[in-house]
Amino acid sequence: MIAASEDVEARRVLLDRLTEARTQTDKLFELVHPDFLYQRPIPERHRIIFYLGHLEAFDWNLLQPRIPGAKVFDAEFDHLFAFGIDPVDGGLPTDQPADWPARELIGRYRTKIRTTLDAALSYSHLADWAGDESSRLLLNVMIEHRLMHAETLAYMLHQMPFEQKGRETQAVVPEMVRKTVHAPNDFIEIPAGRATLGLAHDAASFGWDNEYNLNAIDVPAFVIDGYKVTNGQYLKFVQAGGYQARSLWSSQGWDWKEKEGIWGPLLWIKPENQGKPWRYRAMFDQLPLPLDWPVYVSHAEASAYAAWAGKRLPTEAEWHRAAYGTFHDIESNFPWGAEPPGVQHGCFHLKRWDPSPAAASPAGGSAFGVTGLMANGWEWTSSLFQPFPGFRPFPFYEGYSANFFDGMHYVMKGGSPRTAHCMLRRSFRNWFQPHYQYVYAGFRCAES
Ligand code: AVJ
Ligand code: FE
Repeated sequence: MIAASEDVEARRVLLDRLTEARTQTDKLFELVHPDFLYQRPIPERHRIIFYLGHLEAFDWNLLQPRIPGAKVFDAEFDHLFAFGIDPVDGGLPTDQPADWPARELIGRYRTKIRTTLDAALSYSHLADWAGDESSRLLLNVMIEHRLMHAETLAYMLHQMPFEQKGRETQAVVPEMVRKTVHAPNDFIEIPAGRATLGLAHDAASFGWDNEYNLNAIDVPAFVIDGYKVTNGQYLKFVQAGGYQARSLWSSQGWDWKEKEGIWGPLLWIKPENQGKPWRYRAMFDQLPLPLDWPVYVSHAEASAYAAWAGKRLPTEAEWHRAAYGTFHDIESNFPWGAEPPGVQHGCFHLKRWDPSPAAASPAGGSAFGVTGLMANGWEWTSSLFQPFPGFRPFPFYEGYSANFFDGMHYVMKGGSPRTAHCMLRRSFRNWFQPHYQYVYAGFRCAES
């Protein structure tokens, strides 16, 4: 059978993207000094070594049953590396480094999987896959799954002491987007209107199960911060005793904060004594606290700040409306319009590890003038992660989203400096637990 040339081309693009995604994740593992690969930088998560096996096991578990002649060669590893963990409050994993296989064995497992998959995916051997929607879907799932882990691995490596990891350079925030506008744009009125969340079932582009179906919501008028809350703004809350004010916190948030002894944002370093400056743990360096960068905090901390400010977090629909709504009856694909993300709109394409000033890139603002919405830190919403009407899990990955519709996860929108550009689409939804401080996520406040 001769495949249509556009299908061949579409698959070549996907295979190139898979190669690029592998390069990204390979580089991350190389960043870790080998002696520390069995560390667990985030107590709630697996050790780094798990992810080395996981990325290949995931691809393999997905594709192997669909590849004629591809035989399971290590069922134990396929199972061991199948799924990550997200324990809800309290229960931490207790496995030891010695419980995990040697790095060389995992390396061999990885090589064998890549070789087998690449042979099967190459044009000559899988002509019958071309044009098959489901193989396109599976390749997209593989690529985005890997790229999501490229981001969650970055959170993880962020927590390692500098001497346990290598260094990478990062782009300096370009002068043209750096101009910090401190116009009184910090309080923007959004007129009542429609917010269209989700993705149509017949959309040609890829989306995860939780992005379907399209659903339009009427959003009453509200007010929202023009840019994300900065470290400087958040410092005022800390200094005003926000972490000691019981009334600002939910009872679960307060209990978590007390139990864990949380006194401020995870990446902040307290002054040694009065009068000494606050410092900041960036990815590769310690810096004076960058007052104009967005603060990264958990949902519980963001909610407490909002309460202190007499405001609240926006809902998912409000965030959509602020980002993609216009004064006309149309909605845009990106806050700034239709063009794909460019240098004038912000710092994209994994060029930076740490954020840029919250008020940088005014050209990346929405029709209403709300800025810094994309790729400078996810933004927490007040919306629980729930299915849209018409939700159906992917039959080949039932639990991807459905396992998290448990009232314990909140929706985040917008992306961080480590979010690959394919996931900066309007319908993409991310989610984490409210007490998870490790994500590159901040917030802005809203008011009815
Ligand atoms: C969508 C980022 C919340 O990391 O827990 C990776 C993505 N799911 N492997 C996560 C995911 C399975 C997920 N998030
Ligand atoms: Fe995973």
